[in-house]
Amino acid sequence: MQNQNKSSQDSGQQNSTKDIGEQFRGEIEELITQLQSALADTIRGTDDRPALAAGAEEVLALLDEPLPESGCGAKQSIEKLLELNMKAAANVGGPKCFHFILGGSTPASMAADMLATAFETITYTWVVSPVGVQMELQALNWLKQMFGLNPSMSGVMVTGATMANFVGLASARQWWGEQLGFDVSEDGMAGKPQMPVLTSGFVHASTLKVLALLGVGRSSVQRFCRDDVGRLDLEAMQKALEDLDGEPAVIIVNAGEVNAGEFDPVSDMIQLARKHNVWVHVDGAFGLFARVSPRIQHFVEGVEQADSVTVDGHKWLNVPYDSGYAFVRDIGLMARSFRYSADYLPSENEPHPTPGAIGPDSSRRARGFAVWATLKAYGRQGHRRIVEHCLDIAQHFSAQVRNNEHLEAMADVPLHIVAFRFNPGGLSEQELDSLNQQLGEAVLADGRFLAGTSRIGERTVFRPAFSNWRTRNEDVEEFADVVVELGKALI
Ligand SMILES: Cc1ncc(COP(=O)(O)O)c(C=O)c1O
Repeated sequence: MQNQNKSSQDSGQQNSTKDIGEQFRGEIEELITQLQSALADTIRGTDDRPALAAGAEEVLALLDEPLPESGCGAKQSIEKLLELNMKAAANVGGPKCFHFILGGSTPASMAADMLATAFETITYTWVVSPVGVQMELQALNWLKQMFGLNPSMSGVMVTGATMANFVGLASARQWWGEQLGFDVSEDGMAGKPQMPVLTSGFVHASTLKVLALLGVGRSSVQRFCRDDVGRLDLEAMQKALEDLDGEPAVIIVNAGEVNAGEFDPVSDMIQLARKHNVWVHVDGAFGLFARVSPRIQHFVEGVEQADSVTVDGHKWLNVPYDSGYAFVRDIGLMARSFRYSADYLPSENEPHPTPGAIGPDSSRRARGFAVWATLKAYGRQGHRRIVEHCLDIAQHFSAQVRNNEHLEAMADVPLHIVAFRFNPGGLSEQELDSLNQQLGEAVLADGRFLAGTSRIGERTVFRPAFSNWRTRNEDVEEFADVVVELGKALI
């Protein structure tokens, strides 16, 4: 401890005698050497680090210290950061993380993302990064080709599917206002009618968050469900649209729901919408990847007719966080929704694009580097292989569940999510719910795997989602064993 204090002080004193530029240039040389081994160890160790390090809370309590006066210097601060990550990180990019719907990173995308930081690329507008802006546009074009979207759609990269939903639904709101003869972005919504938003029970929490931000309101969403799972009641939706009698409305199509990987009937909903005055927004955060594999393409048939589409890259594209994409059929609606103008900023009429003026964030990092690099490196077929690898892993895990007398399948497995529960037999439904909730906590406390629970209807289920190229058959076999081992310990 004494030594550490001494070296912190030394470093501070040394720093103060040097010009800051001179000091940092020297540090960079030192850091490059340090990073050569640290990056290699970190990346190589991804398969082997625990999913959730034990004792993270105690280790992280050490972060609570007063602001350093002169600091310990870059080398020591990076050493500390590495140590904290070894002791207290969740290994979400590793092969044993099945929580929420996360992804991994392809080798090319990870390298490209690091270079985006090294080049300090900013993609607000062309002049501050011609390559960053153009790579984003090229990557978005490739994504449209890969997903078979309408080529005339415009796109923008954002932090994730939440913000992509924000872009899609802000554009929908702008369209809706214009249908009624006003400009929502200029005039606001005060005194205006409620924007009708229709969907199924599969609607994702992020969409509700976005509708709150857009002033439409979470509770305004009309869900048409035919069962307690949340599946769409198409006839009821049709009736509601007929009752609107030509008034503009928005339909949200949920292409991929999070508990079992089911889909709304995309094509039926779009066909219905086309008979009415409706904007169709498709949330395909992970489900749009069905488009990449002939095995599951049918789930998203017709999606090319949507008015706006959300997709996430940090899920099934396997590019580093954060990376999401919004596609909208009319760039004018995006520009009017997200107008960003001042005398010192580029005007809308410049020949070169300004992504910062058609999406929510103005200052933006170069998300296009990773997307461009992975599509360039592996192409359509490489990404189809990632998707199909995950489908195979899900089927392999589903077989483990079906063949294990203590596990029970709780839904079909159309995609890459397997809903199941621990069921030792002889317990009521309520007892099983409570046991599986406790088991969910036990799995996280154990740390060998990261996986979460949810509910399908009334029932508590585990819902591991397999979206990472790193996951192997033996990982999911071990997961089944661990769930049974921890489950047995609870009864
Ligand atoms: C269907 C769906 N939509 C939206 C989101 C929100 O995505 P993000 O966390 O990237 O903002 C998710 C996240 O899991 C999702 O599954």
